Amino acid sequence: MIKKIGVLTSGGDAPGMNAAIRAVVRTALSKGMEVYGIRRGYVGLISGDIIQMDARSVSDIIHRGGTMLYTARCPEFRTDEGLDKAKAKCEELGLEGIVVIGGDGSFRGAADLSARGILCVGLPGTIDNDIACTEYTIGYDTAMNTAMELADKLRDTSQSHDRCTVIEVMGRNAGYIAVNTGVASGAIEVITKEMPYDLDSLAKKMLEAKKTGKQNFVVVVAEGIGHADEIAKVLQEKTHIEARATVLGHVQRGGSPTLRDRVVASEMGYYAVELLEQGIGNRVVGMKDNKIVDFDIQEALAMKKPYDERLHQIAEEIGF
Ligand code: ADP
Ligand code: F6P
Repeated sequence: MIKKIGVLTSGGDAPGMNAAIRAVVRTALSKGMEVYGIRRGYVGLISGDIIQMDARSVSDIIHRGGTMLYTARCPEFRTDEGLDKAKAKCEELGLEGIVVIGGDGSFRGAADLSARGILCVGLPGTIDNDIACTEYTIGYDTAMNTAMELADKLRDTSQSHDRCTVIEVMGRNAGYIAVNTGVASGAIEVITKEMPYDLDSLAKKMLEAKKTGKQNFVVVVAEGIGHADEIAKVLQEKTHIEARATVLGHVQRGGSPTLRDRVVASEMGYYAVELLEQGIGNRVVGMKDNKIVDFDIQEALAMKKPYDERLHQIAEEIGF
């Protein structure tokens, strides 16, 4: 029977991480375990910045963005020395298992620590939804809704000036936020790395639409493509429609999590503790067909995630 576990957040923060921490802490307590919060991800695990949590430690956080445990990137954790220090710290405190909330990088670290005998369970926490083993990652829904709301604001001013607005959304190398935001904000075009694009045909499409009375032209560009400014410049040159570029940036990472993020985070946090309770580690929790499931970490990391080409096609076909 596992008696003591830790929880940490690692990599980029995501709305809903607090709800996941709360679920882990309260589930562990309800199962009679001691639970410790590890601050700033693997940095805190190595340095011992670790606090015991009780039910009240996670009061009043379910609706807050960010992570109450802070987060960090920790280059030392990629080395044998760093991993050995982390293992020694776990042994010193009697931590038998750790719930790691983060992305692929954090899961690689969790696999390395699991190989050293500390049971680790990963929870997918990133706004990018770019983790292959899961249909959904904690933070994705909130970030997309934020991007959509900001796109709506840009559309207001764009419409008033008969302009084109080129909006760059986050997602690292993945276009999932972009394609959904594009559909939801009525974009004329979505540009992502996963699909080919051609600015000449986009310019033509814009001019055709202008002839029918269209006044605003929303173009959503995924972060991986970059150059929103350059794209706006080229489109303006080709169409003589005034264009502006806006990079939404880190505002997409903040804010109160949506219902979906709070609920999924709570379910996943609960599930992670159930695994640890059974002495199961080296797993990643994910969502498949809307159900919470788990995978071996290495197998999860080797998976490939399909891009929603149909949604992309829908965005293109109805955006005119
Ligand atoms: P994310 O978890 O969001 O993908 P990162 O890729 O920045 O974010 O990874 C977060 C942390 O996980 C890194 O700072 C490092 O401590 C750890 N990590 C990343 N990759 C590895 C790896 N290959 N081996 C061990 N630890 C890793
Ligand atoms: O992974 C989340 C994310 O916000 C990506 O969308 C983005 O590429 C990256 O993190 C930004 O990282 P940083 O916070 O280091 O600027």
